[in-house]
Amino acid sequence: MLTDDWMQGRFVSLTPALPRSSAAPLVPGWPTRSIVLGCDYNPEQWSPEVWADDTARMRELGIDLVAINIFGWAHLESEPGVYDFAALDTVIGLLHEAGIRLNLGTGTASPPPWLSRLHPEILPQSAEGVTAWPGGRQAWCPSSPVYRERSLALVEQVAARYGRHEALALWHVSNELGCHNAHCYCDTSAEAFRTWLEARYGSIEALNASWGTAFWSQRCRDWADILPPRTTLSAGNPAQRLDFRRFSSDAQLEQYRAEAAVIRRHSTAPITTNFMVTAHIQALDYFDWADDMDLIANDHYLDHRLTDPIAELAFSADLTRGIAAGDPWMLMETSTSAVSWQPVNHAKGEGELERTVIGHVARGADSICFFQWRASQRGAEKFHSALLPHAGATGPAWQRSVELSALLDRLEPVVGTRVVARAALVFSWESWWATGADTHPSGLLRYLDEAHRYHRALRRHGVTVDMVRPGDDLTGYDLVIVPTLYAVSDVAAAIIRDAVSTGAVALITPFSGIADDSDAIRLGGYPGAFRDLLGLVVDEFRPLAERATVSLESGATASIWTEAMSTSSAEVLDRFVDGPAAGLPALTRAAVGAGAAYYVGTVLDDLGLDALIGRLCGEAGIPTRSLGDGVDLVVRRGDDREIVFVINHRDEAVTLPLTGRDLVTGALLDGPAEIPAGAVRAVLSERSDRGA
Ligand code: GLA
Repeated sequence: MLTDDWMQGRFVSLTPALPRSSAAPLVPGWPTRSIVLGCDYNPEQWSPEVWADDTARMRELGIDLVAINIFGWAHLESEPGVYDFAALDTVIGLLHEAGIRLNLGTGTASPPPWLSRLHPEILPQSAEGVTAWPGGRQAWCPSSPVYRERSLALVEQVAARYGRHEALALWHVSNELGCHNAHCYCDTSAEAFRTWLEARYGSIEALNASWGTAFWSQRCRDWADILPPRTTLSAGNPAQRLDFRRFSSDAQLEQYRAEAAVIRRHSTAPITTNFMVTAHIQALDYFDWADDMDLIANDHYLDHRLTDPIAELAFSADLTRGIAAGDPWMLMETSTSAVSWQPVNHAKGEGELERTVIGHVARGADSICFFQWRASQRGAEKFHSALLPHAGATGPAWQRSVELSALLDRLEPVVGTRVVARAALVFSWESWWATGADTHPSGLLRYLDEAHRYHRALRRHGVTVDMVRPGDDLTGYDLVIVPTLYAVSDVAAAIIRDAVSTGAVALITPFSGIADDSDAIRLGGYPGAFRDLLGLVVDEFRPLAERATVSLESGATASIWTEAMSTSSAEVLDRFVDGPAAGLPALTRAAVGAGAAYYVGTVLDDLGLDALIGRLCGEAGIPTRSLGDGVDLVVRRGDDREIVFVINHRDEAVTLPLTGRDLVTGALLDGPAEIPAGAVRAVLSERSDRGA
C-alpha cells in the first residue's frame, strides 16, 4: 500500500504470505501458476527438427500458452478443398506433451495465393481504386462473399478437428482484424455499404436527411446512387464518411462473428481476437466489439514515432481495460525488444522490457504474450525481436526472457485483482472519426492528442483513470473528463449532466457537444449538448496558427484553439490576455446540483494543465501526487489485498511512502521507499476494509 494520506489510510500493514488470489482465472477452467506467459509460434517457418527443441525451450522458459495457426491457411489447404493437418497435429501434440495450452488461430488472417488467383475479386481496393495485391498479408475485402465462404470452410475444418482438444484454452479468430484492410472501397464493399445503410435508415429519404445531401446537389434517389467515400475532387460528405467508418468497423465484426459461430458448433472454449488499441490505429470501435469477446485481448508495441511512447502505453492499457469493463484482460502481443515496422526500430533499453510488461499488468493485464517465440529467419519480420533470438537460447536477450518469466511468477497475487480508479475519461471512437474531418475550424485540434493530453496530466498526478464509452453509467466516479466529445448523442450528454448534478466534477474541453451522432450541428449556440450544463455560449471559434501561443491571466500558455464565449451561470476562472480572444473567458466553472461542470476553451500547456488537474482533483476529493512524466502509480485491489505498482521510467530515483512486500524484489517496505531510476515495484498488502 501507499502510506501517508493515500487512500485515507484504510489499510493495515502487511501479512507476508497471502493465499493465492481467489479470483476466477482469466480463462474459465484454465488453471495457471500465475500471470500467464504466452507467445505466438509460427512452426511452419521452421523444419520439423526445430519443433521439439522449441517445445523443450518453451518449457524451460515457463511458457503457458502458445498462439499457433495464425497464418496457417496456405499450409493447411494447399489447394481448394484439400486439407492436410499432419504438421499441425504434430506441433499440437508436442505442445500438449509439454503441458502447454493452445491459443488456437482459425488461420484465416491471410488467404493463400491460390484464392486470389482464382478469385481476384476478393482483393481490397483503396479510395483511389488501387488494388492491394497478395504478397503482403490480409489482402481480402471484408465484405467479400467468396472470402467469407472460403474462410469459414477452413474454420469448420479447424474447429471440428481441434474443438475438443484437451490442450485447447482459447480460440484466436483471425489476426488483428482490420489492421491493413479496414477500409475497402471496391464494388463489393459498395454493395455491402448500401445494405448496411438500408438497415440503418430504412428509407432513402431518411438517409438524405441524415447525410445533409441537400448540400452540393448530393441528393440520392436510389440506393444504387450511394458509394463508399471514394476519392473526390473537393471535400467529401462528412456524414457519409462517418457512416462508412461505422460500416467498416461492423464489416470486420461480422467476419469475427461468422468465424465464432462456426467455432461454437464444435467447441466450448473461450473465443477472442487480438485488438489493436494503440495510437495509430483507429478503424474499429472496440467498444462495439466487446460483448462478442469471451475475454478482451490487445496487442501493443511501443511506437517511437510518438513523443512519449510510454505515456501512450499507459493510455492504451487503460483503454483496453475500459473495453473489458474493468475485468482483467490479456496482452496478446508485445515485443521483447525492437519491432521491424517503424522507420527506426529501437531496441528496448536496460530494464525496459520489465517496465513495459509491468506497465500492462499494473493497468489490468493478467496475461502477457509475445510476438513471437522464435525470431524468423526469413520474411518481412526477420528483424523483429522474439523470446528466442537468432542467437539461440544463450546471451543477454534470452536471459532477459528468463528473468521476465520469473518475475511474472512472483506476481501471482495480482491475478484477478482489479484496477482502482475514481476518475473516468469519456472516450469515443465516433468523435475520433468525426473530429478528423478536413473541413473543421482547425486541423490542429486532434481528438486523440486531446485525450492523451488529459490522460498524461492525470498520470503525472498519480491519478488512474478508467476509460468509458459515451453513454456508459458514470456512477461512482468523482471526476469525469470529457475531451473533445465533438459528436454526442442526447443520451450520452444527459448521463454526463446527471453525473454532475449528483456530485461529480466534470471537465469538458473544446469542440465538445457541437454535433449530434449524425454529425449535424446542434443549433442555438455552441456547445449545443453542454451549453446549459456549462452555463455559457460560444459564439465563434478562433483557432490559432501552428506554433502560435496565447497567454492566460493565470500565467498559463495555450495553443491551437481559442474561442469567443459569453457566460450565463458560469463563473470565469481564467481569461485570454492576448490573441484573437483577448479579454474573453478561457476557463469556467458552473455549480450544478451537487457537482460542478468546468469548461476549458483552449489547449493548455503542461503547466496550465497541471494546475487545472490539481484543482479538479482537489474539488473531487481525489488524492494526487506530483510525480511528473515518466512514473506510473497504479493500484490493483482484490477482496483481501491490494498491490501498489510503481514504475519509474525516469533516469533518476523517485521516493514514495510504501508499506508491504514488494513482489519484484521480495523486500519488506515500511515508509519512504526509494525507487531507483528504471526500477519497478509491486507492493502487496492486506486490505483492512474487506467487504466495506
Ligand atoms: C502484429 C501482428 C503480428 C506481427 C506483429 C509484429 O501485432 O499481429 O503478426 O506482425 O504485429 O510487431
